[in-house]
Amino acid sequence: MKINYNFSLKPYNTFSIEAIANGFAEFRTPEELEELIKAAGKNQLLVLGGGSNILLLKNFKGYVLKNGVNGIDIIKEDEHHVYVKAGAGENWHNFVNFCIDRDLAGVENLSLIPGNVGASPMQNIGAYGVELKEVFHDLEAYHFKTKKIVTFTHADCQFGYRDSVFKNKYKGDYIILNVTFRLNKVPHYNTSYGAIEEELNRMGKGVSIQTISQAVINIRTSKLPDPAKIGNAGSFFKNPAIPVKQFDQMLKDHHDVPGYPQGNSMVKIAAGWLIEQCGWKGYRKGDAGVHDKQALVLVNYGNATGKEIYNLSEDIRKSVLKNFKIDLEREVNII
Ligand code: FAD
Ligand code: EPU
Repeated sequence: MKINYNFSLKPYNTFSIEAIANGFAEFRTPEELEELIKAAGKNQLLVLGGGSNILLLKNFKGYVLKNGVNGIDIIKEDEHHVYVKAGAGENWHNFVNFCIDRDLAGVENLSLIPGNVGASPMQNIGAYGVELKEVFHDLEAYHFKTKKIVTFTHADCQFGYRDSVFKNKYKGDYIILNVTFRLNKVPHYNTSYGAIEEELNRMGKGVSIQTISQAVINIRTSKLPDPAKIGNAGSFFKNPAIPVKQFDQMLKDHHDVPGYPQGNSMVKIAAGWLIEQCGWKGYRKGDAGVHDKQALVLVNYGNATGKEIYNLSEDIRKSVLKNFKIDLEREVNII
């Protein structure tokens, strides 16, 4: 295992922000991880997957531990389910394809989400009506303090909307090494997210996990920027939930505000709509900007710094707060 010093993180974050790490190495096994932690000594540590949900504000004065734990294996099955264990360093979409190729259902709506398997439970990734928690079974993680590998069950993870125990109580305490998923032998198609039905009809190839995956890929590529071409980290903010009363009040002035009821008392609002209403869609200052097809996605057109993107996000947050009395919460991890 080679440790690189004064190492550029630009190719390792999808925002394509230049930042230098004092040390950088990729580990493939828990043993290599322990070796690396020893070498890092008292230096600060940053665990990195695909770098698709981080914004680097400055050089990282510590060691970056790139998770390279590989392998995707079917470990058991019962009447209705197949259990697949995947290394944290596996690319998420490769894992999705592994399942789809074997007719294992449950992750087709989560096709083409960038990043790696290890980060997927961190924020309970979600898209097109499905969240990771619906297929999650358990995970193994290395505990920095005790140096032990601990198993987390579904209940232990405390999943919420783009949230888990690893973003809260145990922030920075564990490195996820592998995740076991419970896939369905018989699919329960979820085409409730409007655009999927529309795209399936347009494709005209019927409904299967393969066609749903392709429909999701088509929708995503039509509106989300490809990080290989324009730096970004997907949605920069979470969609906020507001009380029904506040939503009803908003409807009086804006009949078209997109809202999705969350139980009886709250309504989730599309943050992209709020940002667009404030006039930010397509905005650009230097190389920092707001995507012209999806206002929830901030972009780096080339050489923006992390601070420039962050400052733009602050200006957006303040204007939404001023205009709508809604304080947007960042989804991207600020490093
Ligand atoms: P990283 O960015 O490397 O890390 C994210 C955080 O997790 C960091 O704090 C890191 O320290 C920590 N971390 C990473 N790996 C581990 C580990 N093994 N153990 C402990 N901590 C770890 N997300 C969605 O939910 N839905 C979407 O539809 C979606 N669309 C996107 C579209 C685009 C174009 C982009 C660029 C991003 C999108 N995202 C989406 C966000 C992103 O893909 C997910 O958050 C993804 O899970 C991040 O994975 P990663 O490996 O890149 O994590
Ligand atoms: N909208 C606008 N203007 C915009 C963008 C969106 O008015 O510029 C409105 C439209 O009414 C649209 C609605 O917002 O119908 C929802 O937009 P979209 O379907 O693009 O989804 P989103 O709510 O913006 C969320 C997730 C995405 C996920 C998609 C699909 C969050 C924070 N984001 O986006 O996840 O892919 O739904 O399920 O929940 C991510 O987390 O990085 C991410 C991309």
